[in-house]
Amino acid sequence: MTIRLAPSLLSADFSRLADEIEDVAQAGADSLHLDLMDGHFVPNLTFGPLVVASLAGKCPIPLDAHLMVTDPDALLNDLAAAHVARIAVHVEACTHLQRTLQTIRDAGLESGVAINPATPLGVLEEVFDWVDFVLIMSVNPGFGGQKFLPQSVDKICRLRAMAGDRTLDISVDGGVDHSNAGLLAAAGATTLIAGSAVFGFDDRAAALARLRAAAADGGPR
Ligand code: DX5
Ligand code: ZN
Repeated sequence: MTIRLAPSLLSADFSRLADEIEDVAQAGADSLHLDLMDGHFVPNLTFGPLVVASLAGKCPIPLDAHLMVTDPDALLNDLAAAHVARIAVHVEACTHLQRTLQTIRDAGLESGVAINPATPLGVLEEVFDWVDFVLIMSVNPGFGGQKFLPQSVDKICRLRAMAGDRTLDISVDGGVDHSNAGLLAAAGATTLIAGSAVFGFDDRAAALARLRAAAADGGPR
């Protein structure tokens, strides 16, 4: 199974975002993960669709939006207009999850459900038909550089089993690095999102290569 690597811009130098994006794209990232936070759903504030739209013109790889906001529906049209490739909404923030996922797909984008560490997988059962990817949070969302929750590995195994024959990208976000990439890939994750494990190093190509090698290895390092 091919592993996608998606560096999270949250750990980049915000004073030089265009350069940071160019750097990870050149270094071999498969997509760029964008964390939109509203200061309510999570205790942190980042940026909104206006910034995403201006970054889109600088980014040669697909943009993945991860919405950590209390009202994700309000952002969908503007993010589609900004040409993001995929949007993940938190199940904990969506009262009408099926409708939200349908709206994302109707806009021609890949639809994803993000799920917090304490939320059981069962909530996904009724929406699988509208989901292109599930984003397993392996930390409580809000900040980069947090410690990976090892229980996430078993959660990914169970989700892969639940998905059965379906084509489902399982993304994992939070504390991902070369020490757990192999376990995550072996458990069934297909996209590794990494902030500090990529932007925290000067040589982003080496950081991505290390992650890719660890994922291919399929075990702990
Ligand atoms: C956390 C964000 C992550 C974060 C990951 O709420 O969703 O995308 O940037 O950062 P690291 O890889 O440093 O944990
Ligand atoms: Zn994220």
